[in-house]
Parts: sequence; C-alpha cells; structure tokens
Amino acid sequence: TQDAPGAHGAAKVLVASNRGPVSYEVGDDGSLNSKRGGGGVVSGLSAIGPDAGALWVCSALSDGDREAVRRGVGEEGVRMLPIPADVHADAYNGIANSVLWFVHHMLYQTPLEPVFDAEFRRRWASYEAYNRAFAEALAGQAAPGAAVLVQDYHLTLVPGMLRELRPDLRIGHFSHTPWAPPEYFRMLPDDIAEQVLRGMLGADRLGFLTRRWADAFEACCSARFADGLGGTRIGVHGLGPDADFLRERSHRADVAERMAALREEIGSAPDGTARRTIVRVDRTELSKNIVRGLLSYRQLLDDHPEWRERVVHVAFAYPSRQDLAVYRDYTAEVQRLADELNSRYGTPGWTPVVLHVKDDFARSLAAYRLADVALVNPIRDGMNLVAKEVPVVSDEGCALVLSREAGAYEELAEDAIAVNPYDVIGTARALHEALSVPPEERAERSKRLAAAATALPPAQWFLDQLHALEEQPGPAA
Ligand code: G6P
Repeated sequence: TQDAPGAHGAAKVLVASNRGPVSYEVGDDGSLNSKRGGGGVVSGLSAIGPDAGALWVCSALSDGDREAVRRGVGEEGVRMLPIPADVHADAYNGIANSVLWFVHHMLYQTPLEPVFDAEFRRRWASYEAYNRAFAEALAGQAAPGAAVLVQDYHLTLVPGMLRELRPDLRIGHFSHTPWAPPEYFRMLPDDIAEQVLRGMLGADRLGFLTRRWADAFEACCSARFADGLGGTRIGVHGLGPDADFLRERSHRADVAERMAALREEIGSAPDGTARRTIVRVDRTELSKNIVRGLLSYRQLLDDHPEWRERVVHVAFAYPSRQDLAVYRDYTAEVQRLADELNSRYGTPGWTPVVLHVKDDFARSLAAYRLADVALVNPIRDGMNLVAKEVPVVSDEGCALVLSREAGAYEELAEDAIAVNPYDVIGTARALHEALSVPPEERAERSKRLAAAATALPPAQWFLDQLHALEEQPGPAA
C-alpha cells in the first residue's frame, strides 16, 4: 500500500491536524451528511488552489466520520485516519486536552493536579500511537521533498517521527496555543518534556502566534539542551480573521433576522433608548474565563448602579470538550451564575444576562454587529480571534476590553482597554470605562483595532509559512 515504509505518495503540500475541514453525521435514514468548517488552514489551502497537490490528513472524530471512512466516502484532498476510538480518546481527551492544553494555559490547580501516574503513562502510549499513525500516513502520502505543515499540541511528536521516516521532507509545525514558560513546563516528567521538545525540534521550522510564546518555547529548549533549538528555526505569524468573508457573511439575511431577535431580548432602557450591550462569544472553555467575566459584570452593577436597566451582558458560551468532567462542571457554573445574577438583579422588563449555549454562527455575527463593548478576558490564550473579529464586523464601532494574557493583546494593546483577567474589580472598572467611551472616539478606536487585527489574513498566514519552509536551506542531500 501507499503507507508501506519506504514508499512515497504524490502530495506536494500536506497539512496534518486533529480536527479536519469536514465532519460527517449519519442521518436517520442512514445517509451521511457532511459539514464543512472554516479557519486559517482552510483559507490557506484554497489560496494555493486545487491543483497544488495538497492533502489534509486529520482524525476521524465522530461515529459519522468513522462510518464515512468505512464506506469509502470522502472529499478530494482530505484523508481521515480511522484511529481506534479508545486510542483517540486517550490521546485527545486524556493527554492533549487534559495535560498539554492545561500546561500551556497554566490551568492546573496544583495542590491536587497534575498526577503523573501509571494511568498517565498508559494514556501517553496512546498519544504516541496516535502521533505515529499521523507520521506514517504523511510519510506514505508525501511526494519527494514535499512540504508538511503539522498543526498544534495534539501532534507534537509527529515532526520527529516523520523526520525519521522521510528525511527528504520539509517539515513545519504551528502552535495555535500559548507555550508554557520553563518553570511551568518542567512540571511534566523529564522524559515526557524532552520527548515533546525533541518531537517538535524534528521540524525544520516552528511557528507561533506571538513572540511571547516563541520565546517561551525557546527558553524551554535552552533549559534542557546544550544546543538549544539545534538547527530548527522559529517564525512568528499572528493569524488574523478573513475580513472580506466576515463582512460579507455578516450582512446576509439570517444575520439580520438574528439581530432583530437579539434586540427584542435585550430590550430598551426605561427612558426608551436602546440598552447597551457587553458581548462575549466563546467556546465554554476553562481558559476563556467566562465565570470571572460574569463576576466582573456583577461588580459593575454593584459599583455603578446607574447601569442597571441600561445594559445587558450578552454571553454566548458554546459547548466544548464535554467528555471532560471539568468542562461539564465549568459549563454548569456559567449557567448557575448567569441564573443567579438574573434573579438577584433582574426586573420585570430587564434580564441582565442573556446567555445562549447553542452554537449559532449567524447569531454570533449578529452580536458582533451590535456590540457596544466586547469582553475578551481569557486567563491565557494563543491569540483569540473574537477580539480581532468584533471590530471588523461591528456596525457602529465597539470598545474592546481585552486580557493582557491573550496573544491578540500584542497587536491590539494601543486601542483596547487592558485587563488582568484575575482582577474582577479591575475588569469591572474596565467595563465601566468601555461603556463610557464617547461614540466618536469609540468608532475611531474600533477602526484602528480592525486595521491592526487584519494585518495578516488567513491565506497570507498560511502562504508565509509555506514559503518560509520552501525557502529554507534544504536537508543535506
Ligand atoms: C483551539 C485549538 C484547536 C482546536 C480548537 C477547538 O483553538 O488550538 O486545535 O481545534 O481549540 O477545540 P476542539 O477540541 O473542539 O478541536
């Protein structure tokens, strides 16, 4: 077969990621329905065109995906790997999302976690097997000298494994998360930490979203290896949103409908004027800091009672990683706190928090358009595209309250209102300040935010990495 050791394939540009660009569901009548996703890599691949010989290797994630693989259904240019469900669960839930994500976002409550025991080692073996499945598939599909772009913390071992199988390839890896500083990263058992770093250093080139994360990675390597990064180069590529797509998409009829419905839910202030809105849109993700966002809003209503009845916190918190108990608990806490705020402060005509949990892209865009204030307060975040999308889509300009721990802060600091994400009182103060910015100033700042946010559109983000990889001095041949 094409995946046999020593064989090679025909793909000239390969992408590898856990989550691919398409997913399948088995309908009630047994038919397969497909759903396409978006994001930076999707735009990048469409920019290089259908004739570029590109192949996207990803995991079959759902039962529908596995059924599609079994039936031989698929899209041209996409190859889903039917990794056994238990191996995938241990690698994705047990290691990638519970260990590596926690380390890079510094999410552990350290008196009790993490515990690196025999169960952890068992899961680690699955993470290795899962990475090996990717490395072998890529090795089998890549043309001689092809460029391979590996994505994210799920696949840190792939570059090293692939380098051994196919020394002729140009290998890149991109991290969409922060990178932990060395004092936190050293929490991992030494052999595991070294395996991760060595796996990454198997790449010719590593990409990060900001200088801060790139420096942290380099510091982790210098702390362990005499030769630091060895021959691996590092690039910083601050991914921005696709502004043209967002502007066009946010002016379609379904978004207008959602805006009308939202306005209805938000209602008017007692003096008849439209209420102000503080909008947030996130996956219900521990690192997004939704709970402290609600606590800050409560603090605002206490410190500035003049805002009562005149403002609504519109919070969209979409389900994420619900196989993990801590995510389920966090989701429940968000709901509980929103309910508590509504019963404590609400009046017959005013619901202080409008919380929606059902993922709806058109409604997210509707909220972006009418937001007076966007609240983006993550504990730590690789970039945070919401911070970059809202100013692009906003109708009348929006004030941005932004955590200094989000990667986006490096580019948006000048016109955002910065917060320490742990400081609830400081965040309440920032919300008050944001609500009080005069309209002209707000519109101007929002315009500048949109310009800064779109400096590197997704297609260019992808092409920059591809070209840098191709231009790099090749492997000794
Ligand atoms: C982050 C990660 C991505 C991931 C996304 C959604 O942005 O960097 O790799 O795809 O979260 O998470 P999920 O676990 O649903 O893929």
